[in-house]
Amino acid sequence: MIIKEAKFVSSNTEVAKCPETTLPEYAFIGRSNVGKSSLINMLTERSKLAKTSSLPGKTQLINHFIINDTWYLVDLPGYGWARVSQTSREKWSKMVKAYLRNRSNLACVFLLIDSRLEPQKTDLEFIQVLGTMGVPFVLVFTKTDKQSGQKTQANIATFKKTLLQTWEELPRLFITSAAEKKGREELLEFIAETNDQ
Ligand code: GTP
Ligand code: MG
Repeated sequence: MIIKEAKFVSSNTEVAKCPETTLPEYAFIGRSNVGKSSLINMLTERSKLAKTSSLPGKTQLINHFIINDTWYLVDLPGYGWARVSQTSREKWSKMVKAYLRNRSNLACVFLLIDSRLEPQKTDLEFIQVLGTMGVPFVLVFTKTDKQSGQKTQANIATFKKTLLQTWEELPRLFITSAAEKKGREELLEFIAETNDQ
């Protein structure tokens, strides 16, 4: 797929205020700092479309972007940052669950996982939430440029093994690096395949 146009549409805290659900949408979710906004910029080849930061907690709202006037990309705030109050955590959880429940046009969630880490409790819990809600999702391993391919493969193998303790089937997996533009074609191909427009 060729990205001819990528435009910012809106930032919202309330799902009710998000754009009409007339076009399919793909949402990026995952721990704070995992690289959601960077991956959106890499996919769209617009380095400043989504705001990124080396400090976790940069994205705080539900951000909609429209691509080629035919589908939405959504950048969501991250979870799992230790220095966040219980109140903020609950606010996040309420907002994201409302988002997942109410976007009837949600084609797929891209759940980003830091490829450098052992399976994280927060990620496994969030996979459980997606499964229970019946939301279609795939896993996207990020920041693979920061370590050897061997290490990435070993961590992914561990992640798969952990998932197979509770799941019969594994979701689709993508291996990416926003810094090296790795996985771009595969992700765009997947979006094109699942997008009925
Ligand atoms: P929040 O909005 O805080 O939830 O974070 P986020 O998941 O949107 O992360 P963001 O894209 O802002 O990236 C966090 C930091 O990781 C930034 O300093 C990025 O430059 C860096 N980063 C993201 N992806 C990659 C990658 O593939 N490789 C490398 N080396 N750095 C990356
Ligand atoms: Mg972000």
